[in-house]
Amino acid sequence: MSDDWTEIYRPHGLGEVVGNPKAVEELKAWADSWASGRPAKRAAVLIGTPGTGKTSAALALAADYGWDVVEMNASDQRNADAIKGIAMRGALGQTFTPEGEYHSTKAGRLKLIILDEADNISGREDRGGVPAIVEVVRSAKQPVILIVNDWYALTKKSSVLKTQTEQIKFSRIKPVTVRGVLRKIAKDQGVKISDSALELLAENSGGDLRSAIRDLQAVATGREEVTDLDTRVVSAREVEKTMYQAMDSVFKYTDPMSARAKMAEVEEAPDTKLLWIEENLPIAYRESLDLYNGMRQVAKASSYLGWVHRRQYYGFWSYAGDLLSFGVCAAKRREVRGYVRYQFPSYLMKMSRSKSVRATQSQVCAKIGEMVHMSSAEVRQELLPYFRLLFKRDKEFQLRMTIDLGLEVEEVAFILEEKIDSNAVKHVMSDVKRVLDAKDQKMEKAIDRKKVLDMLDEPPAAPKPQPSALQRTLF
Ligand SMILES: Nc1ncnc2c1ncn2[C@@H]1O[C@H](COP(=O)(O)OP(=O)(O)O)[C@@H](O)[C@H]1O
Ligand SMILES: [Mg+2]
Repeated sequence: MSDDWTEIYRPHGLGEVVGNPKAVEELKAWADSWASGRPAKRAAVLIGTPGTGKTSAALALAADYGWDVVEMNASDQRNADAIKGIAMRGALGQTFTPEGEYHSTKAGRLKLIILDEADNISGREDRGGVPAIVEVVRSAKQPVILIVNDWYALTKKSSVLKTQTEQIKFSRIKPVTVRGVLRKIAKDQGVKISDSALELLAENSGGDLRSAIRDLQAVATGREEVTDLDTRVVSAREVEKTMYQAMDSVFKYTDPMSARAKMAEVEEAPDTKLLWIEENLPIAYRESLDLYNGMRQVAKASSYLGWVHRRQYYGFWSYAGDLLSFGVCAAKRREVRGYVRYQFPSYLMKMSRSKSVRATQSQVCAKIGEMVHMSSAEVRQELLPYFRLLFKRDKEFQLRMTIDLGLEVEEVAFILEEKIDSNAVKHVMSDVKRVLDAKDQKMEKAIDRKKVLDMLDEPPAAPKPQPSALQRTLF
């Protein structure tokens, strides 16, 4: 099973779709209109920003009404071709698979055709993407749902889409609603989280429930409790915001000078910018030639950055920056319209997940280093593997080190290479506690005995020295 919380908590029915009650009602009314034959408006268009529940609502509707689903993402080249092919053949009596084959429709059972990211249909400028969608809408004999972020861009060229579809708007989800969803998920996952942390996450999401759930998963993973939200996540989002804007000016628009300026505003190292551009170039540029030319700019930028690192030629930094912004922007032949779903660079994602592990590692190495008079780096390279081996095998060593080094629970988990809440770690900590408790008791007893002995031959109390009346102060 997927461990992506946005998938795990996807609504199963319309009743679970939060926010936008009006949109849900309109969607139901449209679906009901199919009960008595084919309605005038065979397509509904769900319009709204990402993470507001459009795809979820479409799938939930099908589940509630017992409809089959054919889901196609129009920004995928293969799907786009299939949609066009089918529209050309005017063959929409039956529904179809992404391969362009027909699903036969069982008697009485409707098939919902979901065209997700319809405003992004691949190559719609020159290869008839929009006409294909219009054709699908006009000749469909089954219910069709179009999902779009940018309705205006799609309808500029077609009035048919405007008049023959039922348009349903999805607004951003309110922070209080987002908070409610997050609280439920945290509870279900057994993660304790403070109200202030929930509020921060909710405010920060900008009404995008998907990203709110993702943020929650990012901060909660591997912890039982999120008390004070790691503010780095939040500020990382701020940088991300300017980064997303810069991405738009590089990838979507055709003004290289402004792309260069926008990119320069982002406070990130050129290496990070390169990761962003590299990750998102293939998502944004769907024409092969644009992609090729763009990638050449990225490759050049990468070799300049290599010089910076190997030879400290910092002057090359700005060249790399220009290639990544100006160069990549100028590499395309025309504007890229519609919404582009940029991705956070996967490399950075992996690194930030391992960041806390690295922090723990350096703490542990510093503690061991202090004891054996070695630097943390030396400990990490030379000692840690053996230390770890002994720690895992030898119970006495384990207890002694945990006590002498004052190891915290996450440090023990790190050394054992186990999760914090695993039984192995819990055992060590409870053994340590027992040893320490026993020690305390012994100490107390020892102290008591000493007290008694002292009392037995206590000398008579000497008179306390009286402060001299003359010397009030030292100065
Ligand atoms: N209105 C909503 N109700 C419940 N969950 C939602 C809602 N909106 C988004 N989500 C959560 O976010 C994820 C992505 O939402 P999705 O429906 O794909 O949004 P969109 O299609 O508008 O971008 C879902 O899997 C679900 O976990
Ligand atoms: Mg969607």
